[in-house]
Amino acid sequence: MNIDFQDKVVVVTGAAHGFGRAIAQNFADRGAVVHACDVNAGGLEETVRLCGPRSRGHMLDVGRRDDVQTVVAQIGDIDILVNNAGGVRGQVGRPIEEISETDWRDIFDVNLTGAFFMAQAVAPGMKRKQAGRIINISSGAGLGISLTGIQAYASAKAGQIGLTRQLAHELGPWNITVNNVAPGFVRSNPSTEKQWDAMGEEGQARLIQNIALKRLGTADDIAAMVMFFASDFAGWVSGQVISVDGGK
Ligand SMILES: NC(=O)c1ccc[n+]([C@@H]2O[C@H](COP(=O)([O-])OP(=O)(O)OC[C@H]3O[C@@H](n4cnc5c(N)ncnc54)[C@H](O)[C@@H]3O)[C@@H](O)[C@H]2O)c1
Repeated sequence: MNIDFQDKVVVVTGAAHGFGRAIAQNFADRGAVVHACDVNAGGLEETVRLCGPRSRGHMLDVGRRDDVQTVVAQIGDIDILVNNAGGVRGQVGRPIEEISETDWRDIFDVNLTGAFFMAQAVAPGMKRKQAGRIINISSGAGLGISLTGIQAYASAKAGQIGLTRQLAHELGPWNITVNNVAPGFVRSNPSTEKQWDAMGEEGQARLIQNIALKRLGTADDIAAMVMFFASDFAGWVSGQVISVDGGK
């Protein structure tokens, strides 16, 4: 299967690190013009360097609607949007009584509201072109329960899967597909490193034993499914969630 994105304009959020950087690089390697968005300036600079001279970095907090509108207007017409920005914002699982309003809203802002604001900003251009691809990155936590125990994370990712299905139907008449990748546990950021360490040797062995393919995944494993959803090979696939987790 030869997947090519020559001259396609691709926006990847949360592109300064981890999956987002791998997704950005995979698109750039296939000829796309990549616009990397993140709140981490240093990481963005490195992603842009890795993606080559045609790529651009944008400092953008996806939870801020006006900023999202401004950046998308600066970029112009967009062929592919990947809503990857997300995560647990440095939080750990705590009993429900201890969760503040800010804790709850912070996680929703980046994992769910940000995906909505981005989709809202790119949709008019995609409708005009009668073509577009939106790919949201959720989590196994949105399909089942979260290993982290963080209520807002499981809820926001489940909400983002609902948003995927709803937008697939709303935008389908304009030939815009909306799909979702639900990754399993990958050691790709400081929070997952902490979780991994906290499991201890026995917990780590158990986690791997429960994966059909008996190995942890990588950021490139996640990027590969994004490439498929973004490609012509997925032209009649919309509203779907694929778990990329080595098999459960
Ligand atoms: N690593 C895993 O095990 C795992 C599993 C399932 C799902 N996920 C999801 O995959 C996505 C990427 O995870 P990762 O492991 O690469 O994490 P990461 O922390 O390496 O990358 C997330 C990026 O998002 C950026 N970001 C955070 N808030 C932002 C905001 N408001 N606006 C713009 N950018 C923002 C961060 O600066 C960071 O660069 C996240 O949505 C995460 O929830 C990760």
